[in-house]
Amino acid sequence: MGFVHTSVMPAEVFAYQNLKPGDVCVDCTLGGAGHAETTIQAILPGGTLIGIDQDHEAIANAKKVLHPFAENLLLVHDNFTCLSNILTRYGITGVNTIVLDLGFSLNQITQAGRGFSFHLNEPLDMRMDIRKELTARIIVNSFGEKELADLFFTFGEEKFSRRIARAIITQRQEHPVKTTRDLTRIILDSVPKSRAGSQKIHPATRVFQALRIAVNQELENLAMFMRQVPDLLVKGGRICVICFHSLEDRIVKQQLKAFEAVCTCPKELPRCVCNTQPTMKSIVKKPLTPTPQEMQANPMARSAKLRVAERI
Ligand SMILES: C[S@@+](CC[C@H](N)C(=O)[O-])C[C@H]1O[C@@H](n2cnc3c(N)ncnc32)[C@H](O)[C@@H]1O
Repeated sequence: MGFVHTSVMPAEVFAYQNLKPGDVCVDCTLGGAGHAETTIQAILPGGTLIGIDQDHEAIANAKKVLHPFAENLLLVHDNFTCLSNILTRYGITGVNTIVLDLGFSLNQITQAGRGFSFHLNEPLDMRMDIRKELTARIIVNSFGEKELADLFFTFGEEKFSRRIARAIITQRQEHPVKTTRDLTRIILDSVPKSRAGSQKIHPATRVFQALRIAVNQELENLAMFMRQVPDLLVKGGRICVICFHSLEDRIVKQQLKAFEAVCTCPKELPRCVCNTQPTMKSIVKKPLTPTPQEMQANPMARSAKLRVAERI
């Protein structure tokens, strides 16, 4: 199966980037390169798009899809937390726009061999960057019962986290949990039958989400990246972030709020001594969500939330 575009909220991201010819832009999460393709066309002539993804398959795909724009494109196979170093390497001191469209791509979940999907039977992997060591198999077969339960509960909001963790430990005593099918079977056997049938989502969804977040250190990376944002943008430059669950959105919301803070002095002080200046302002008060039409056409977009902020 070939690569497919998985751009969520493409019209909104395009409009809020406020692009013009000559801009220097970064797509931190290339995926199927949908956002990247519309962005690069709008910054010609003279612009540069830096496209980043930690998944080598996304980079290989972008090379093909964005081939007509090769002269204005820099593709980087890396983690977006390294953006500051990447810009330094290319002698860029600040960029006009940054796009983060978080989570996994449709290609990662549908292409064989990556271990992201409970619909396929494959090795339990889930690494977006296959150069990294930690896999879902290592977590599932080496974490203690409480660690597993906490992980499923915190990153997946899984109600039956304890039962599932206990069942994994029991299974492990017989033989290791090696495949997505092994794990899905354990989950289905642990969840009460009445619940398994009545849930709107597949009973394995939350555990798989939790493992994916842990394997790829998604929340740590996002928090580390968000702290750097004002140093990466030129004045008036914008960041658009699309989150797919509340854990991510909370990190983005709180960091943007911290950048907007005017004074951090204790209330008791008669006047401000910290001289804190806001570095970013939010462009949308509440996060934007996809139109009902987009949600219907692309169920993966249902939980998307877009936040946009501008460097002051
Ligand atoms: C939802 S997809 C992006 C889809 C893309 N916007 C499009 O238009 O097709 C998310 C992509 O971000 C990548 N990704 C996630 N976290 C990353 C990180 N910390 N550094 C680099 N790439 C990351 C994933 O490998 C995946 O390809």
